[in-house]
Amino acid sequence: MASGKPQASPVLGFGANGSLRASQALFERAQCVLAGGISSSARSTSTGSAPHPLYICRGRGSRIWDADDHEFIDYLLSYGAVILGHGNAGLVEALRSQLERGTMFGTCNTVEVDLAEQICRMVRSADLVRFANSGSEAIMAAVRAARGFTGKNKILKFEGHYHGWVDVLAISNRPGAEEAGPVEAPHSVPHSRGIPASIAKDVLICPWNEPKILKNLLDRHGAEIAGVIAEPIVANNACIMPQPGYLELLREECTRRGIVLIFDEIVTGFRVAPGGAQELFGVDADLTVYSKAIGSGMPISAFVGKRSIMELVAANRIKHGGTYNGNPICAAAALFTLRTLADRAVQDRIRRHGEAVMEALRRAARDAHVPCIIQGLGSMFQIVFAEVPPVHYRDLYRADMKRYEAFRNALLVRGIHCNTSPLACWFVSAAHTDDDLEQTTAAIETSMKTVA
Ligand SMILES: Cc1ncc(COP(=O)(O)O)c(C=O)c1O
Repeated sequence: MASGKPQASPVLGFGANGSLRASQALFERAQCVLAGGISSSARSTSTGSAPHPLYICRGRGSRIWDADDHEFIDYLLSYGAVILGHGNAGLVEALRSQLERGTMFGTCNTVEVDLAEQICRMVRSADLVRFANSGSEAIMAAVRAARGFTGKNKILKFEGHYHGWVDVLAISNRPGAEEAGPVEAPHSVPHSRGIPASIAKDVLICPWNEPKILKNLLDRHGAEIAGVIAEPIVANNACIMPQPGYLELLREECTRRGIVLIFDEIVTGFRVAPGGAQELFGVDADLTVYSKAIGSGMPISAFVGKRSIMELVAANRIKHGGTYNGNPICAAAALFTLRTLADRAVQDRIRRHGEAVMEALRRAARDAHVPCIIQGLGSMFQIVFAEVPPVHYRDLYRADMKRYEAFRNALLVRGIHCNTSPLACWFVSAAHTDDDLEQTTAAIETSMKTVA
């Protein structure tokens, strides 16, 4: 049974005329049958405004509508996945045409070949590709490949970076200050009950953007490390960017020590440039994981990499399976999406809209005398209510999370939908328009004044 009856939200301000009734009723029903009323732990924080989430029923272009028929400009975009906007006509046609030919055969299919070729054309470090169905799954496969290739067990991961919910890497995703340990040698903190300490032991934690600490850890443990994994732009830490030279340093250190460098481009892939963060920064990984934008919201992921590593997967010495891998429906969606994103004009449009929103945030904050940092790129960015730009996860302890919550809720009642989590990002799609920008800018200006 639901614990406590949800009330119409005084925070959101929709409640006065009872107009959130449909979402509220749905959440009451959901709590009786879905654990916590949700389908992913992340949704309790990333889309669930207190006291209940909004239930979104439909989307078109940059806009979405909830069960009470409120209209929002969407900057959540399913965590960045819906990069072409909702209901893109070409995508719908690609899906329809594949659906008419069949959903799945459990055999090899023609679309997965076209799609893998498209990825190899767009990503310089992709010699060979394998498909999976979610980011977490492909991450698991990449970690196994790094271990299988090197014959070593340890993985170095950066504190606060998120690589999915699976045991192998759900370590120190969001450690509290009291459990995180000293910054020069952070503790490996399992993200959940049920993750064995023996798994956490094989995951070394390092603060992001701290070259000296990284080198020390590599000097001490380098001989046991199979892989170093990173989000090149830390989408899950309010869009912290790599300091100049830091990705190059990772590349150099991994090459020198025979460690596999894995980039988690689940968020940045095909979004920040046609070739993702690797193209943007000019640093290639050995293995890369993609999901989200690759499929425009269809569940597909991929891990790709250098021939020397992927050949072991090809030879079945590193096992990788999955009933739904490369299924033609998701592959058709991805093929259409990537062919669209290969056009730099599309990416430029996305970037320009985002840069204008970032500038609107900066201007509104300056006019209202609200100290904050706007960081990221046009296609993905975040506002952090802090005086000093965060360099790594621990700097975010000092950010004013309550102010973010108030700002986000003020935006929501003005028709702007973005992630409820101050540690996540805003995303822009190819469908955002000048009208959206005008409305968003006006909402930002008034919302900023409410948190001054
Ligand atoms: C950078 C990053 N890696 C991995 C994942 C996990 O992907 P999935 O939720 O599809 O398992 C996410 C999900 O948000 C992510 O942002």
